[in-house]
Amino acid sequence: MRKILATSALPYANGPIHIGHMVEYIQTDIWVRFQKLRGNDCLYICGDDAHGTPIMLSAEKRGITPEELTKEIKTAHEQDFQKFNVDFDNFYTTHSDENRELVTAIYEKLKANGDIEVKTIEQAFDPEKEMFLPDRYVRGECPRCGAKDQYGDNCEVCSATYAPTDLKNPISVVSGATPIMKESEHYFFKLSNYKDTLQQWLKSNHLQPEVAHKLSEWFKEDLRDWDISRDAPYFGFKIPGSDNKYFYVWLDAPIGYIASLHNLAGHKDVNPEEYWDEGSNTELYHFIGKDIIYFHALFWPAILTSANLRKPTAVFVHGFLTVNGQKMSKSRGTFIRASDYLKHLDPEYLRYYFAAKLTSRIDDIDLNFEDFLQRVNSDLVGKVVNIASRCAGFIRKKFDNKLADELSSPELFNTFKDAAENIASLYEAREFNAAIREIMALADKANQYIDEQKPWVLAKQEGEKQNVQNICTMGLNLFRILMIYLKPVLPTMATNVEEFLNIAPLTWQDIKQPLLAHTINDFKPLMQRVEQEKIDALLEQE
Ligand code: 2FM
Ligand code: ZN
Repeated sequence: MRKILATSALPYANGPIHIGHMVEYIQTDIWVRFQKLRGNDCLYICGDDAHGTPIMLSAEKRGITPEELTKEIKTAHEQDFQKFNVDFDNFYTTHSDENRELVTAIYEKLKANGDIEVKTIEQAFDPEKEMFLPDRYVRGECPRCGAKDQYGDNCEVCSATYAPTDLKNPISVVSGATPIMKESEHYFFKLSNYKDTLQQWLKSNHLQPEVAHKLSEWFKEDLRDWDISRDAPYFGFKIPGSDNKYFYVWLDAPIGYIASLHNLAGHKDVNPEEYWDEGSNTELYHFIGKDIIYFHALFWPAILTSANLRKPTAVFVHGFLTVNGQKMSKSRGTFIRASDYLKHLDPEYLRYYFAAKLTSRIDDIDLNFEDFLQRVNSDLVGKVVNIASRCAGFIRKKFDNKLADELSSPELFNTFKDAAENIASLYEAREFNAAIREIMALADKANQYIDEQKPWVLAKQEGEKQNVQNICTMGLNLFRILMIYLKPVLPTMATNVEEFLNIAPLTWQDIKQPLLAHTINDFKPLMQRVEQEKIDALLEQE
């Protein structure tokens, strides 16, 4: 049995979960459920990313403390995840005692290793609000094309990149005041000390080829030291031994993965050291989006090395979600909150749709609602559920819900059974779209079998009774195997099927043995068709 720890990126505690986020949580959840179904010991850890300037300012705007804000958002996030059946073993927060202790201990290690350097830098400062301004909080005219109201790091009109000091007529987004330049001492992590270690790690199959390639580009130049501190006012952890400095949110966020496991260890039999100590033989996987590769594949392994902790077995990067071919955007009506989706549509539709599209690559995936409706209805309702509904009626009416003693086509059963290893390796490799293709090809075979056997014709013929029971038992057994294959993707439907078949929770092992001479329960519809009106209502929602 493998021991595995999987994580999804920690969502910021200052906004709602949207369906773009859901790509990652659904991807990870399917993978983790697959591992558990196979009998592996797999933990899924996450939590909210609670620190940083945007969270501090949002709380202030609402007249509440950052603690209050992040608590409220955490509850909302947890509800969304639960409704989408994303089954974390623990969902915690980076604003916790466990994280504070770990961050402090790790920082002391970095310092003792000589990996921390204090340097004075000059930064934009809001003299009215008396705070240093991150690049995004300075706006002004683009130094190249003159476009107004551009961010301090790049121009959305001509794509120029520059420093906030280059902007013409800059203003602070926080107060509207003209920023001044001010010096301050910052703490830097000497990433360059880990150049060789990182380059070695990069070459050793911990990353998808396209990600490794992208990273190797960054190594062409020297690695720049990483500023891990921020000046007060800031919502985060104070740097011990400093006057008024805080750890930058991106230092404590990944350490939040470890803290979440420590928190879990408080109420479950888990030993965090077994997962994080150097030389650990457990597996560690981080699922992330392509925008945060730098943090997880450069800074994080370097920090872990310096702190004598183990590095990830692999970082799994996915692409972004587009909706009807467009970038998600509020103005186009394609920014869809998870909670709004849930008001109109079944979460299992989206889980299935994403599974049908996800690969191990980092390409973006598109949620095309026409395709979504067509796919869910034709695959799940038209193919999979159809197998059960075609067979269950006969078993109930003619056999008092009792399955036959033998299979009418053991060869076909074996074909379904023999697909297991291929489907398992596709799930393992996150080639979910290929796994779904295989499963649907089997569903076609099952329907074809029923079409050929025509139990509805035999049911009207003398002397064919046993045959009808055998055929329908066969159909339900094929359906049962399909449900095992789909269980990581459709946990709610799988539970309803277990209830219908009157069986214990299905495991991957159950593929081997057919279900015979067993009394099942009455069939109830397992999934409603997707209705266009519901999609329209979702897209029209403000
Ligand atoms: O990009 C983000 O949304 C971050 N909140 C992800 C943090 S992941 C981890 F490092 F904590
Ligand atoms: Zn410009």
